[in-house]
Amino acid sequence: MNAPLQAIRGMNDVLPEEAALWLGFEAAAQAWLERWGYRNIRMPLVEHTALFRRAIGEATDIVEKEMYSWRDELNGEELTLRPEGTASCVRAAIEHNLLYDGPRRLWYAGPMYRHERPQKGRYRQFHQYGAEALGFPGPDVDAELIVMCARLWQQLGLEGLRLELNTIGSPEERARYRADLIGHLEANRDRLDADAMRRLHANPLRVFDSKNPLVQDVVARAPDMMKYLGEASLAHFEGLQKLLSVAQVDYAINPKLVRGLDYYNLTVFEWVSDRLGAQGTVCGGGRYDGLFALLGGKPAPAVGFAMGCERLVVLLKEAGRAPLLRSPDAYVLHQGAGTLEFAFGVADALRASGYTVIQHAGGGGFKSQMKKADASGAALALIVGEDELRAGEVTVKPLRDARAQVRVPRPAIVGRVSEFLKGG
Ligand code: HAM
Repeated sequence: MNAPLQAIRGMNDVLPEEAALWLGFEAAAQAWLERWGYRNIRMPLVEHTALFRRAIGEATDIVEKEMYSWRDELNGEELTLRPEGTASCVRAAIEHNLLYDGPRRLWYAGPMYRHERPQKGRYRQFHQYGAEALGFPGPDVDAELIVMCARLWQQLGLEGLRLELNTIGSPEERARYRADLIGHLEANRDRLDADAMRRLHANPLRVFDSKNPLVQDVVARAPDMMKYLGEASLAHFEGLQKLLSVAQVDYAINPKLVRGLDYYNLTVFEWVSDRLGAQGTVCGGGRYDGLFALLGGKPAPAVGFAMGCERLVVLLKEAGRAPLLRSPDAYVLHQGAGTLEFAFGVADALRASGYTVIQHAGGGGFKSQMKKADASGAALALIVGEDELRAGEVTVKPLRDARAQVRVPRPAIVGRVSEFLKGG
């Protein structure tokens, strides 16, 4: 016998009970994005590797070690399974000239792939809902995106999500800061570990993410980014904070929040939960005004975020917000010669009128069919036996209360089912 094959590590099946929760979350997320004026865009799962190398940055964890990349054997192209959506979204906006008559608000959803070490809340295939506001320079849109998230958490009944906020200035300001930070780190070389030493020159801001207490101590005494910001950057940050106050969205400024992708400038933010263990960030984003030009497009300011569905679904489950699997309205049984065709037509007519109907399949006696009807959660059993067939009728039997069953002529069945479901 063949040994059964298993799913790839870090790539999960979502089984029907859990998938119902996902559907509930996705319906809420899609309606919410559209309500805020964001329009759906769908990008391919596979892109040229160069796109991510350029957008996310060579010296990031994602590009250095987490991408699923390969060379297409047929034409030699270097390809990558997308590790995130922003790069593709901007590539598509440039390719299709989406900003030709003004800024655009876009959203996307779907699986992303990163070859990380799997653990609770961290997978190799995971799912994001992302929003990108393209062509808007002001802090008003930064605030819009952050407040949007706050309102979604409220709507979903999720509590305890903290907002962490920072600004990393303009590229010029960051370059000056970077030089001084390298100086500070070098002066404390003896206390840095191998990982921090490796990042020191390639991507010194990432040293902030170190969990090593010795390194953290060096980081705590690092120069303060705020002191490197010019007037325009400070005004942007203040403008954002004012709007967050107006919306009564609380936040904590975290000067060590730098994010793991290189395209950001000015605003960066993360929504974090304490209930998810080490992988507590449910949503991250920020401004990336340089990305259009970096990818060969006409320069355009932009800002966005992406949220991790797996982590949000865990929080929804914990909050007892699991939407229940919707039970069918009716389960149609049949037994005897010629009854299948009759029952088939009844089920079809009911579905055409908008009801959820399961047609019994797989044979079996009346008793076992009734058991299946009951287990399906259906409100009504519709029974077609030889007796009913001869009379051109259907027996309607309520399964969830003590109402008596009745025989209903075939032409009246849709109307009677509707009355039954309304409690009549
Ligand atoms: P990111 O912080 O890399 O940002 O990912 C956003 C969210 O995706 C994270 O906060 C987390 O919830 C989820 N996530 C990331 N990696 C994993 C994983 N391995 N397993 C499970 N969940 C994960 C971005 O991807 C940017 N594109 C966000 C953005 C949009 N910035 C501007 N626009």
